[in-house]
Parts: sequence; C-alpha cells; structure tokens
Amino acid sequence: MTAVPTVPLAAGLDVSKIGFGGMALSHAYGDTDPEQALRTLHHAVDHGVTFIDTADVYGKPRDGSSGPAGTNEELIAKLLAERRAEVRIATKFGITGAVGGATATRGDRAYVRSACEASLRRLGTDVIDLYYLHRRQVDLPIEETVGAMAELVAEGKVRHLGLSEVTAGELQAAAAVHPIAAVQSEWSIWSRDVEAQVVPAARAVGAGFVPYSPLGRGFLTGALTPDRISGGMLRAEPRFVAHFDANQRVVALLREIGAEIGATAAQVALAWLWAQGEAFGLPVVPIPGTRSPARVTENAEALQVRLSTVQKARLDGAADLVEGDRRLTFTPQDWISADRE
Ligand SMILES: NC(=O)c1ccc[n+]([C@@H]2O[C@H](COP(=O)([O-])OP(=O)(O)OC[C@H]3O[C@@H](n4cnc5c(N)ncnc54)[C@H](OP(=O)(O)O)[C@@H]3O)[C@@H](O)[C@H]2O)c1
Repeated sequence: MTAVPTVPLAAGLDVSKIGFGGMALSHAYGDTDPEQALRTLHHAVDHGVTFIDTADVYGKPRDGSSGPAGTNEELIAKLLAERRAEVRIATKFGITGAVGGATATRGDRAYVRSACEASLRRLGTDVIDLYYLHRRQVDLPIEETVGAMAELVAEGKVRHLGLSEVTAGELQAAAAVHPIAAVQSEWSIWSRDVEAQVVPAARAVGAGFVPYSPLGRGFLTGALTPDRISGGMLRAEPRFVAHFDANQRVVALLREIGAEIGATAAQVALAWLWAQGEAFGLPVVPIPGTRSPARVTENAEALQVRLSTVQKARLDGAADLVEGDRRLTFTPQDWISADRE
C-alpha cells in the first residue's frame, strides 16, 4: 500500500489525508471485540492513517454509570500508550447523555474544563491534538463555550479547537473568539446540506473539514443489508429502511463508476469527498470507521482513485436519487447544521 500523505487541516495541524473514525469499534453498528479493535487501530497507524477520531460519549456506559461512557477513549488509550507520537488524536465533548429520547448537551466553562480533564485521563495523554465541541448547548452563546476551550489551549491541554454540527453563523462567532482548525459534520454523497453554508464558512475562517459518516454509515459501500440494519441503531431511520430499495440506486451508481476505474463503491464515495474539497477550495479529511483492518487498507487506497470530470458530475447527480434526509429519529432535529441558518 502506498504511504498515506499528510495535509495541513489548518495552520499548524498536519494530519493524514484520511483519518480513522473510532466510534464503531465500541458501539453503534454491530458486535465489537476490543482485541480486534486494537489490532485494527494498530493496522491503521502502521499504514499511515494516524488521525484518530473519538469522543467522550462513544462506547457503552458501564452498568450504573451516567454521563459520557468514555470506553472508546479508553480503548484508544491502549494504542496511544505505545504510539502517542505517531498519532494526531481528536476527541469531543458536549453530549452529556439522552434525556427523554433527546440529546442533552452542556457547554458551560465548568463542564468544558471537567470534560477535558476526564478525556485526558481516559486517553492517558497530557495533550489532545484537536478538541471538538460535539454538540453545542443551544441556550448558551457559543462564544462562552469556545472561550473556555481557548483557556485549555492557553494551558497546553489542547492544541487545536474544532466544532461539530454547527451552523455557519455559529462557526463565525466561534472563530472570532479563537481560531477554529476543523469543522466535523456529516458530509457524503447522500448528505450534502453542509455545502450550502457551512463548508464555505469553514473555508472563510481557515478551518479544514472533517466529514463524518463519509460512507453513509456503511450504506454507500453496498455492504449494509436489511438484516444488518434491523439489528442495529439504524433500524428506525427511513433512509436506511423505508427508502432502502430506492437508495440502492445511489449504491448502483457508485459501483458502476467503481467498475469503470477498478475501485470499490466505498473508494468512489471517499474519492468524491476529496474532489468536493478541491471544488470548494479547502482541506477535506474524511474519517471512515471500520472494525476490519482490510477495510482500513481499502479505504486508504481510495487516495489513489481519480475521478474524471464526467464521473464527478455523474456522482454529483446522485443527490437527486436520494430518498429520505439524514435526520436521526432519536435525536432532536435542531442540531442539524443547515436547519438553524
Ligand atoms: N461528530 C459527530 O457527531 C459524529 C457522528 C457520527 C460519526 N462520527 C465519527 O465519524 C466516524 C465515521 O462515521 P460512521 O462510523 O458513522 O460511518 P461511516 O464511516 O460512514 O461507515 C461506517 C460503517 O461502514 C462500514 N465500512 C467501513 N469501510 C467499509 C468498506 N470499505 N466496505 C464496506 N463497509 C465498510 C463499517 O462496517 P465494518 O465495521 O463492518 O467494516 C461501518 O459499519 C465515526 O467513527 C466517528 O468517529 C462523528
């Protein structure tokens, strides 16, 4: 496998051009095995995929505990214990749990400080390379949260700041308080609402973009089957269930273009994101997640895939084939970036 290049995501933050999303190593889309998960993480770093994404809320809470589970951070700590210097570690705070089926959030100074200390402790490191606000507290000015995050930078606990699922206006307000190195929101061939305002705003403030769920939570690879969906957290999502058959047209297009250039559907979906980054004029670093070392390699090899102008245009048209939006039924709807513009 060709070495994965690094790119400046923002000033002073070089990361591998493809990252690794750690969430599903601990929970989300099916069974997990901590030993296999650790092997997958080592495989990623061995092959130059060194930008590792986690969050304090990822993983199943231990019995009787409340608040962020932290178990995914603890898993990644085992990688960092051996290879801290090779890794750019990104984690997130702000989601405190679920209340009555809705996501509860906090962004006040005291919480920001305690969340950071807890993540540093769980990760077993003395500095976080990129610290994201995962979901903002909607009844608190974002400037207050980012002001508290900036203190962490001044104290050397955090190197760079990021924001997840913010609007363009929130991003601009935050960037006036402290430079924002990265915006992480869902972005893929079937989730393009961020392109209207959030992506141009990221470019304007000098932030790179980190598309999460770049493979559409697995759907765009063609590997998600109705039986896998029915057993996991996607079973209530219309886009994956009621519109499953209609949305296979998107998968068919990815496969068709993949067959033309000797690539898999997953690789075409990732190549399209880098091409979008070039079109928008900002660094784009997707963070696909997988439990499988072989798929880490497959996804990283997408960096070799080149789409022709015609193929790119055909993929742009896939948006017209998508049925159902990206809302998750078990979260409140107001966190969707585009809704609050
Ligand atoms: N900021 C946020 O609010 C937020 C929200 C969601 C996710 N994230 C981050 O983004 C990361 C990635 O998102 P995601 O995990 O939701 O979705 P994703 O990366 O779009 O898709 C992950 C799914 O795709 C499958 N997969 C991966 N590579 C594959 C390949 N080459 N061929 C076939 N199947 C493949 C994986 O299954 P296998 O494990 O079976 O390979 C997994 O079920 C997360 O790990 C997390 O770090 C952030």
